[in-house]
Amino acid sequence: MTPPPAAGRAPYDAVELIRCKRDGGELEPAAVDWLLQAYTDGEVAEEQMAAMAMAVFFRGLTRAELGRWTAAMIASGERLDFSGLSRPTVDKHSTGGVGDKITLPLAPLVAACGVAVPQLSGRGLGHTGGTLDKLEAVPGWRAGLSNAEMLAQLEDVGAVICAAGSGLAPADKKLYALRDVTGTVESIPLIASSIMSKKIAEGTSALVLDVKVGTGAFMKDEADARALAETMVGLGQDAGVTTVALLTQMSSPLGLTAGNALEVQESVDVLAGGGPADVVELTLALAREMLGAAGRGDVDPAAALADGRAMDVWRRMIRAQGGDPDAPLPRARETEVVRAESDGVLTSLDAMAVGLAAWRLGAGRARREDSVQAGAGVELHVKPGDRVRAGDPVLTLHTDTPERFDRARAALEGGWSVGPEAPRAEPLVLARIA
Ligand code: URA
Repeated sequence: MTPPPAAGRAPYDAVELIRCKRDGGELEPAAVDWLLQAYTDGEVAEEQMAAMAMAVFFRGLTRAELGRWTAAMIASGERLDFSGLSRPTVDKHSTGGVGDKITLPLAPLVAACGVAVPQLSGRGLGHTGGTLDKLEAVPGWRAGLSNAEMLAQLEDVGAVICAAGSGLAPADKKLYALRDVTGTVESIPLIASSIMSKKIAEGTSALVLDVKVGTGAFMKDEADARALAETMVGLGQDAGVTTVALLTQMSSPLGLTAGNALEVQESVDVLAGGGPADVVELTLALAREMLGAAGRGDVDPAAALADGRAMDVWRRMIRAQGGDPDAPLPRARETEVVRAESDGVLTSLDAMAVGLAAWRLGAGRARREDSVQAGAGVELHVKPGDRVRAGDPVLTLHTDTPERFDRARAALEGGWSVGPEAPRAEPLVLARIA
């Protein structure tokens, strides 16, 4: 256990706490509270917190430490309260993948079934896209809402997708930026506490987690993804938030598009009753989980998708945030087609390769301050298991800046293959953890 604070000085000494964790000790609850608050207030230096994050990376956190760490991150900022709404609330969080536009059709679909969806989302960094970047492709749409605007829209429309305000878990905001530049992102307790502190502070009463597994995901193998999911479900349950996780496949992209406006169009296609089968399947699977977690497991979301109710909510949700649901979406100025060189079956299409290509075409950003191209991205003409003939289009690359094509093509090298036999079909939903 942490040595108790010495009399007459600051409650704890950051160096002693770092040594304690580095040597495999356990931090006492008050030490965790102090550390995170002192870091948020600037009393614990960035380099000290970097050392602590690395110590946690190697030593982990006990269950007690993890619960306290998460609670301290929540306590560093404000907590939203949706208890005054006339309907239950449920949120969804995805750990991020390529072509993962599911939030776009899902939030209005669940709202159309009578459950409010407060979806605080982020921007993309690296090869996975961000929900806000996607929606900003819709002319006029704005991500920034005050808490009062968010509550009013939740009551009126039932669904909000907007940026998380800076008041929510500020300790996480600072720590996540630090982890990003110190090689300490890939730690299960740090990821779980980071995600769950924001979701619990947001005030939802139920939460469904989509934990991605595969080459295009944070978690490359199923055992790690399962451990992350179990940790997050435990944290949610301990905080009184009904939490369920699905482990889902992210070895090849979801749907047929990766890129901002391209993914909005695909989402609208799903809301109109069409769209790729895998996007529809995952949207409905997550909607069923969300409705179940919110106590409305009796409602069938497929009906609300088929009869246009979900599309109505989408249109109202976009309008409420200044967007025009009828305006044409931006299109990239230039396209280039990647073609098959032989006859056969598409045996693989690597999510990471497609995500990197979309990023290099301008759909994502390398630094937080970069802007993104709304029309840039990758369009898939075939999915693994589909037949192709030599000369058939496999992918179309979209960008406003054609000098990006070479680097995008380089990202795709070795990222897809054509062979004689169809690959084994993998289920989209690998496991459910509740
Ligand atoms: N997303 C988060 O919000 N936090 C992490 O640590 C990783 C992904």
